Amino acid sequence: MLQDLRAFLKEFRANFHTTGAVFPSSRYLANEITSRLASRPKTPIRVLEVGPATGAFTRKILAYLGPVDHLDLCEINPSFVAHLESWLGKQRNGPTIRIFPRSILEIEVDQGYDYIISGLPLNNFKPDEVRFILRRFLELGKEGTEFSDFEYWSLRRLKVGLSTGTERSRLKKVGHVVRRFIRNHGNKRSIVWRNFPPARALHFRFNNTARSDHKEVPGIRYRPGEKIETG
Ligand SMILES: C[S@@+](CC[C@H](N)C(=O)[O-])C[C@H]1O[C@@H](n2cnc3c(N)ncnc32)[C@H](O)[C@@H]1O
Repeated sequence: MLQDLRAFLKEFRANFHTTGAVFPSSRYLANEITSRLASRPKTPIRVLEVGPATGAFTRKILAYLGPVDHLDLCEINPSFVAHLESWLGKQRNGPTIRIFPRSILEIEVDQGYDYIISGLPLNNFKPDEVRFILRRFLELGKEGTEFSDFEYWSLRRLKVGLSTGTERSRLKKVGHVVRRFIRNHGNKRSIVWRNFPPARALHFRFNNTARSDHKEVPGIRYRPGEKIETG
């Protein structure tokens, strides 16, 4: 665990834009974020975790999975990928695990996931990038997919208050995109105080009507290599 903390702090300093946090999530947040897996079906399931970093959620996810299940991890930072590989390689009797060492916007998969768990620092991204990422989650899901995510409690509001000019406008637009997604697809939220900083866990259940929304909007589908405009 000390190794996780060291690796996280190093990447916080070197890659703040994509890491977006000083510390890995607490076990309390991990418990809440993975709580939907507690009522998983007995049949094999496919799980995707996006942005696992050192594996705070991954360890908890693994406790719910067996050899017939499938876990994909999508992590953009090569140092975190190396860290994950070093401890995941020692796992026995667990699910089939694949690591995609690239952005969520660039992975190609042939089947939808039953569960998607994410911890991306959306507040650090451009509004259009956030829009593409949220739509990507919908594309990677299917009817009934349980999607869980979190954001630091009140952080965006605080940053909006403290920032000016284009940064303030960017944060406000990100807030608008995130709130719209929660309104359209969210079905439960709860605050986890025992995390630093405290976090708001967000749970979503995708249905076909909700998922088809994004397909009706013209010109929004992201293609790898496409330029993302500042919205
Ligand atoms: C806030 S950290 C969350 C880490 C971990 N889930 C936790 O809660 O302790 C965000 C993670 O998302 C990864 N990340 C950022 N942008 C990404 C992207 N576009 N695709 C995949 N992973 C990304 C970062 O490298 C980092 O590991």
